[in-house]
Amino acid sequence: MSKVFLDDARNLKDKIKLSSIDVTITSPPYFDMKDYGHTNQIGFGQSYEAYLNDLQKVFKDVYDATKESGSLWVVIDTFKRDGAVVPLPFDFVREISKTGWKLQDIIIWKKDKTVPWSKKGATRKIFEYVLFFSKSNEFKYYSERAREITDLKEWWIRYPERYNPNGKSLEEIWEFSIPTQGSWGEGYIRHFCPLPEDLVRRIITLTTDEGDLVFDPFSGSGTVPSQAAFMEREYYGFELNPEYLQMFESYLEANLVTRLDSYRASRITLDENEFKKKIIDLRILKYGRVLAKKMKSSGINVQKMFTKHSEEPLNKKHDIAAGHYLLLIEPNNTSLTDADIITVINEIISVPPLSKFGISSKFLLSRNLDEFAELLPDNELFIYSHNNTHQFVAKPSASNSFIYSTIAVNINEEIYRNTK
Ligand SMILES: C[S@@+](CC[C@H](N)C(=O)[O-])C[C@H]1O[C@@H](n2cnc3c(N)ncnc32)[C@H](O)[C@@H]1O
Repeated sequence: MSKVFLDDARNLKDKIKLSSIDVTITSPPYFDMKDYGHTNQIGFGQSYEAYLNDLQKVFKDVYDATKESGSLWVVIDTFKRDGAVVPLPFDFVREISKTGWKLQDIIIWKKDKTVPWSKKGATRKIFEYVLFFSKSNEFKYYSERAREITDLKEWWIRYPERYNPNGKSLEEIWEFSIPTQGSWGEGYIRHFCPLPEDLVRRIITLTTDEGDLVFDPFSGSGTVPSQAAFMEREYYGFELNPEYLQMFESYLEANLVTRLDSYRASRITLDENEFKKKIIDLRILKYGRVLAKKMKSSGINVQKMFTKHSEEPLNKKHDIAAGHYLLLIEPNNTSLTDADIITVINEIISVPPLSKFGISSKFLLSRNLDEFAELLPDNELFIYSHNNTHQFVAKPSASNSFIYSTIAVNINEEIYRNTK
């Protein structure tokens, strides 16, 4: 059913069923500044009142075509006219609130690359508004997915201690570059400022499920419908200019297969409980590895260790998991008693970085390989090397068998990179 219509957005009632849209993401045509090359275009050649009226009409129809759980995201900016700023975002909110839309949030889209000039009386423009409206109070909004779509990428794998396993909430300033390349060429980009793909993806992830309907009444180069297609959502759009529609169609055709593939590969990161468990597993394993490194700096050589996730009560309020550690201490550290070594360990774990891991730890020491081996559980054990606790060793050898654990972590970082 997905389609971008070569038609006026003011005709949307004829094409789109009532209560069918899940999310609308759009940047409306500018007021009287850009000529998009069509007599029916909204904005160019109109009075400000007529322009606002037309926008109000379109967004009233979008409201009626939206499900109760749906939302609307509008990227919009102020502009200067006759020597004074016209507060379009605020006028827009006032007008479309009359049609029923509830303003939920105002987000700042910070552009990191901007025109390096400013005019008298104006600071350099580096942001636009993203207005987020809902139809009802029961709108779809998956805040727990925010952690996936902030700056996590592969970093949580190597630095699990930095990420709260319960997720990370989104901030109200979003930083995305202005798109600089695309199959439609530089001239188009300069003229239109298409929306950044990442911004559109973020909104789709936050507000929809696969199969949901994404809409853009002013599709332009088709960033919104193409991202919807890449993320297995349905889409509808309107665009007056046949050249832009053509650009969208060729872009979609050229990229759909590869982009769907990478979307499917990245999708596996989205399960909340799985993420939480992985962060805990990664922290327990890394805690042991970092501890051994610190002990070595204090002159105590840990030859091997065993660790497991324990269900024992946590020591401190902010701890997130308990870990048991069995350390095989090199026999020639005999000058130190077990009590001495435990004192050193307690000093190490009471300060950062280990004090920040949120791990309640318990230790057992051994000085003998046979005894160590005997203390290992019968369960299947996974083996990690000295410098990697996010991927167990496929072929253990004397040199790469350092940490033994009942915890199985095998994360291929490549999957989490460049999910485009
Ligand atoms: C700011 S641009 C949208 C850019 C788009 N978000 C992108 O990523 O490329 C606004 C678009 O609205 C289109 N437009 C203007 N008046 C229209 C109308 N009455 N119906 C449908 N589209 C219209 C223009 O041709 C232009 O492509």
